[in-house]
Amino acid sequence: MHDIYIFVSGPLVWIAFIIFVGGSVYQLISRAVLAGKKDQVIYSYMSPFFALRSIFHWLIPFGSVNSRNKPVFTIATFMFHLCLILAPVFLFAHVTLINEAWGVSWWFISDTTADIMTVLVILVCLFFLGRRLFLREVKYLTSVSDYVILGLVAAPFITGFWAYHQFPGYTVIMIAHMLSGEILLAAIPFTKLSHMLFFPFTRGYIGSEFGAVRHARDW
Ligand code: HEM
Ligand code: HEM
Repeated sequence: MHDIYIFVSGPLVWIAFIIFVGGSVYQLISRAVLAGKKDQVIYSYMSPFFALRSIFHWLIPFGSVNSRNKPVFTIATFMFHLCLILAPVFLFAHVTLINEAWGVSWWFISDTTADIMTVLVILVCLFFLGRRLFLREVKYLTSVSDYVILGLVAAPFITGFWAYHQFPGYTVIMIAHMLSGEILLAAIPFTKLSHMLFFPFTRGYIGSEFGAVRHARDW
């Protein structure tokens, strides 16, 4: 058990991080090249002004008609992404670990705030799961990989919460926590979670098409 702990808390963190960064760079470059090959005019077509205008509208809560039509889903999705990114980055335990390893540190949130954000992420994961299971129009578009991805996202939050509250089995749960966090990081570039990388480009492209060509709004 001790050896597993050492491996998961040391080398595997590095491996996961390298796969995440390397995979993201690879995906961005290969998709950019592929897009240029498939469609020769795609880049002259892109308009920075209309691209940014569209990205901005879609990043603002209730900035699009679509989001105004589904207020519960919109609030859930925004809270989810906010907590999902902010809680791990500004968690005291994580900041301390990084400080001990590399001597760099930054601002952190209180443990209570982190706890609330963690619970929120888990609850919204359940909400996403419920939509996929019970809403007919969402169920129709759902495949097994969507459930796996939801599980991947929820796992570090469930195990992090478990470890922080010192529920039984601390060592095993801590290993599960690190492992699930590492799998999540490594999976981002190669699964649907890569929407994090591609969002500005897909939105920017549609924004350019609507703004510069059709002279219409896309939000
Ligand atoms: C990969 C290496 C990681 C390490 C070494 C690590 C380590 C830790 C540690 C030591 C704690 C505190 C547990 C305690 O107080 O005993 C913790 C909590 C937590 N971790 Fe991680 N973590 C990692 C990755 C991640 C990732 C990728 C995420 C999310 C995407 C994440 C989310 C959380 C959350 C949300 C908590 C706190 C839960 C709460 O306070 O309710 N961790 N982590
Ligand atoms: C940082 C930039 C990110 C942006 C702009 C973004 C944007 C979005 C958008 C627009 C949706 C779709 C909502 C809809 O269906 O209308 C979504 C869903 C989702 N995102 Fe992100 N996202 C980001 C990062 C992430 C990250 C880092 C993760 C996880 C590691 C993540 C996990 C998810 C999940 C699990 C869903 C919903 C899945 C479901 O419907 O079952 N996102 N995101």
